[in-house]
Amino acid sequence: MVYRASAVWLSLALTPFVPPALARSIGPRDAVPEGYYAAPYYPAPHGGWLESWQDAYAKAYALVSQMTLAEKTNITSGVGIYMASRPCVGNSGSADRLGFPQLCLQDSALGVASADNITAFPAGITTGATWDKALMYARGVAIGKEFRGKGANIHLGPAVGPLGRKPLGGRNWEGFGSDPVLQGKAAALHIKGVQEQGVIATIKHFIGNEQEMFRMYNPFQPGYSANIDDRTLHEVYMWPFAEAVHAGVGAAMTAYNAVNGSASSQNSYLINGLLKDELGFQGMVMSDWLSHISGVDSALAGLDVNMPGDTNIPLFGFSLWQYELTRSVLNGSVPLDRLNDMATRVVAAWYKMGQDKNFPRPNFSSNTRDRNGLLYPAAVFSPIGQVNWFVNVQEDHYKVARQVAQDAITLLKNNGSLLPLSTSSKITVFGTDAQVNSAGPNACLNRACNKGTLGMGWGSGVADYPYFDDPISAIRKRIPDVKFQNSDNFPLFLDEPSPDDIAIVFISSDAGENSFTVENNHGDRDSDKLAAWHGGDKLVQKAAEKFQNVVVVAHTVGPLILESWIDLPSVKAVLFAHLPGQEAGESLTNVLFGDVSPSGHLPYSITKAATDYPESIANLKGFALGQVQDTYSEGLYIDYRSLNKHSIKPRFAFGHGLSYTTFSFTNVTIKPVNGTVPLSVTPPPRPPKLATPSYPTTIPNASEAYYPPGFRPIWRYLYSWLHQSEADAAHAIGVAGTKKYAYPEGYSTTQKPGPAAGGGEGGHPSLWDVAWEVDVTVTNTGDRFPGRASVQGYVQFPEGITYDTPVVQLRDFEKTRELAPGESQRVTLRLTRRDVSVWDAELQNWVVPGAAVAARAKGKTQGRYTFWIGEASDKLFLACYTDTARCQSGLEPPV
Ligand SMILES: *[C@@H]1O[C@H](CO)[C@@H](O)[C@H](O)[C@H]1NC(C)=O
Ligand SMILES: *[C@@H]1O[C@H](CO)[C@@H](O)[C@H](O)[C@H]1NC(C)=O
Ligand SMILES: *[C@@H]1O[C@H](CO)[C@@H](O)[C@H](O)[C@H]1NC(C)=O
Ligand SMILES: *[C@@H]1O[C@H](CO)[C@@H](O)[C@H](O)[C@H]1NC(C)=O
Ligand SMILES: *[C@@H]1O[C@H](CO)[C@@H](O)[C@H](O)[C@H]1NC(C)=O
Ligand SMILES: *[C@@H]1O[C@H](CO)[C@@H](O)[C@H](O)[C@H]1NC(C)=O
Ligand SMILES: *[C@@H]1O[C@H](CO)[C@@H](O)[C@H](O)[C@H]1NC(C)=O
Ligand SMILES: *[C@@H]1O[C@H](CO)[C@@H](O)[C@H](O)[C@H]1NC(C)=O
Ligand SMILES: *[C@@H]1O[C@H](CO)[C@@H](O)[C@H](O)[C@H]1NC(C)=O
Repeated sequence: MVYRASAVWLSLALTPFVPPALARSIGPRDAVPEGYYAAPYYPAPHGGWLESWQDAYAKAYALVSQMTLAEKTNITSGVGIYMASRPCVGNSGSADRLGFPQLCLQDSALGVASADNITAFPAGITTGATWDKALMYARGVAIGKEFRGKGANIHLGPAVGPLGRKPLGGRNWEGFGSDPVLQGKAAALHIKGVQEQGVIATIKHFIGNEQEMFRMYNPFQPGYSANIDDRTLHEVYMWPFAEAVHAGVGAAMTAYNAVNGSASSQNSYLINGLLKDELGFQGMVMSDWLSHISGVDSALAGLDVNMPGDTNIPLFGFSLWQYELTRSVLNGSVPLDRLNDMATRVVAAWYKMGQDKNFPRPNFSSNTRDRNGLLYPAAVFSPIGQVNWFVNVQEDHYKVARQVAQDAITLLKNNGSLLPLSTSSKITVFGTDAQVNSAGPNACLNRACNKGTLGMGWGSGVADYPYFDDPISAIRKRIPDVKFQNSDNFPLFLDEPSPDDIAIVFISSDAGENSFTVENNHGDRDSDKLAAWHGGDKLVQKAAEKFQNVVVVAHTVGPLILESWIDLPSVKAVLFAHLPGQEAGESLTNVLFGDVSPSGHLPYSITKAATDYPESIANLKGFALGQVQDTYSEGLYIDYRSLNKHSIKPRFAFGHGLSYTTFSFTNVTIKPVNGTVPLSVTPPPRPPKLATPSYPTTIPNASEAYYPPGFRPIWRYLYSWLHQSEADAAHAIGVAGTKKYAYPEGYSTTQKPGPAAGGGEGGHPSLWDVAWEVDVTVTNTGDRFPGRASVQGYVQFPEGITYDTPVVQLRDFEKTRELAPGESQRVTLRLTRRDVSVWDAELQNWVVPGAAVAARAKGKTQGRYTFWIGEASDKLFLACYTDTARCQSGLEPPV
């Protein structure tokens, strides 16, 4: 489409001219609050030390050994924004001589972005609300197939950062909910599904990107600093990343913001220390788009891939890598050893997913829907050629999409069993959110508007709808003459409804990425806050004055404050349909009219007031001179952990969700997997690292960097070659070894054995050992409706331990199949060593405090962990105890 190509020129015109030298220098760091410190961690650990990646690394070694310097620096960086023929949002350089192709990196976490004939799946938050592991996996499989079908090598999802710390945060909806375990299990299943199709998944954004405003570095202001203590980082924010690495994720993306004052894209403690050494990540670490702000330093800090290749001011044809990385290796500042590891990680991930065999080339364009288009859209004079092949990758994926949308729908309230509705009811529908945007579902670029039914948020985390099944059309299929008031203002004149008449009121709340401002919300919900948009709360109140039966349907990125209407007697039923993607209609009517019982549960808490949370999470950080400081002073206590700590009852608790039927949970049993053998306090000694590829490390011949004779570069395309004179000059500096680079504090080139808490993918392998299994029988005790139950397990740590822990923390969940009235299913939940551990910042290891308690109180095999079972965080009526291996029912919930 024309606007895409012209957008390139527009953004160029709007970019203040910043000389590249300024774009490169980030200057001294701003001070962070006392006690926070970005420790150095060097060198970057080599990849390839784990058994599960050895084959891929052996193949990668064989290929990378044959690469020239310029080929290695080519495959570790993008070729420039809006560059490359058949473009994806990121396109790496290739080593064509050796058959290593350009890799296509494509958004988004919910479907192939900027492409036709795809499926626009429900968002992450919707998937989280299903609490259904099978669906989390099935959606991943379908998304993986679509990326493969379009020839996208790298899927830029799933997102687990933001984790949802701040209810107002703009991108929370891209992830699965405000809890590390829900996020972690969903992400792992998504990754498994995607990567089984041969597509590399990307876990993002590492880490602390919990608000949109002030996230990015620019020449005038650094991105905000997320100041996170070590224990909180391990137990909350890094938890889902560990789960993703454990699932074998092939790529990770850093965040825009800084952590403890050091930018995530060059923070050696985060990348080298935590991600690569402690979590044992074997794939490639890439920067988020245009967050690359140093050349040598980011390479040393462990970054492997720069996307999309440019400096943080794009489109001038400048890069801090590509030709500069070539120079940095020739002049000896970046050890060849580091570049070899970078290249090997990229190639190993490619082999690991089998992309060397029959992986399609990209057959779509992110820049145009026409068959032919510019091959190099950012170049001044670009050849034109075929860029779109219109490959249809949808198969029957609408079924998974609809199932997720349907099983996510969360019934918050159903007074007097108003729902399900009968098709003979007299219904009036209110609200513009009931009908698709009249200008078309994709009328706004990157969905950066809130018009019509809200199916997804805005920004880079979107896909184009192939079609949109909207609620009003689906309702009309059941009730052809349903009345529809397509306005967010209640009509002045309306026939007096009779007492049985029903109003269905649609409301919405949107959010997205900071690159767009929508109705004065700058990505985050900074303007509308937790109120429904377009006066939706008023619309509900007005409808409730007129009608005696009101059903509210909310399409929302996250929690809303419902207090102005939730207790009105005529507001009988409330459904949160989250962000349903293309399948917004029938998924909803299936629930409204009782074809299925609702079975979604909240992936976050809904409070009565925004101020029910402490200031640090209730509010966004506003402008400050210099670096904005976002300090995680609430520690572990976000969402329900915070509310429970302060004994604040939410309106609807984390995990809440009603059904048309009822369930009983009976015959709960607990089984220690290893009999009475107690867990040790810390994991056993870690397994040592296996040998990693070893290459020659002497500075390469300058000729490996020369432009090919007679080569005519395309302006602003990023190349890894240097002119002969430049290469020779850099080489001379490197071999002389007299001019030393000003290496960061703590710099070293000696590989480390790795921390005690590491040793496998996701951390020490024993952390993943299942220690207890809990079984429970779930029975549909209703007599009319079939339904699916959510079984949630929360751990309570033993009394008398020296670590402050949240009252309860989610640890596992399962969903039953659809149970007919009277039918039962036995369900198993599991507790691992990691689930009963805390991170001890002093020991730098995971500690089982219950084991320590047991050791003090001799004779007992474990301290008393209580594993609470129920259907929501505030509906926990059963508990099992690890010390006695007994369970009890009919208890008072702990919160
Ligand atoms: C940030 O600083 C805190 C306090 O010193 C420390 O515990 C934590 O490990 C640091 N995190 C990072 C990523 O540097
Ligand atoms: C780098 O990649 C580009 C794009 O595929 C290619 O044209 C160029 O030849 C590559 N350079 C090297 C050194 O292989
Ligand atoms: C596009 O992908 C399909 C498979 O999905 C493949 O058969 C085709 O060759 C690709 N087209 C191009 C131009 O690479
Ligand atoms: C080597 O080149 C890089 C990239 O231009 C530069 O940042 C670095 O300072 C150079 N090192 C030396 C020793 O000249
Ligand atoms: C989808 O693919 C078909 C061919 O299968 C093509 O005719 C159609 O134009 C494509 N749709 C769009 C929106 O490009
Ligand atoms: C539920 O409806 C009954 C009347 O049917 C009313 O008395 C009661 O207050 C309602 N409860 C809530 C929570 O709205
Ligand atoms: C309870 O579950 C156990 C298996 O864990 C089974 O052996 C037993 O029969 C069940 N009891 C009832 C009453 O269902
Ligand atoms: C280095 O390059 C020069 C000139 O291209 C060539 O003559 C020489 O053989 C090369 N040396 C090595 C070790 O490859
Ligand atoms: C259970 O025992 C096996 C075999 O000794 C061991 O590998 C595993 O780590 C143990 N699991 C736990 C949770 O301790």
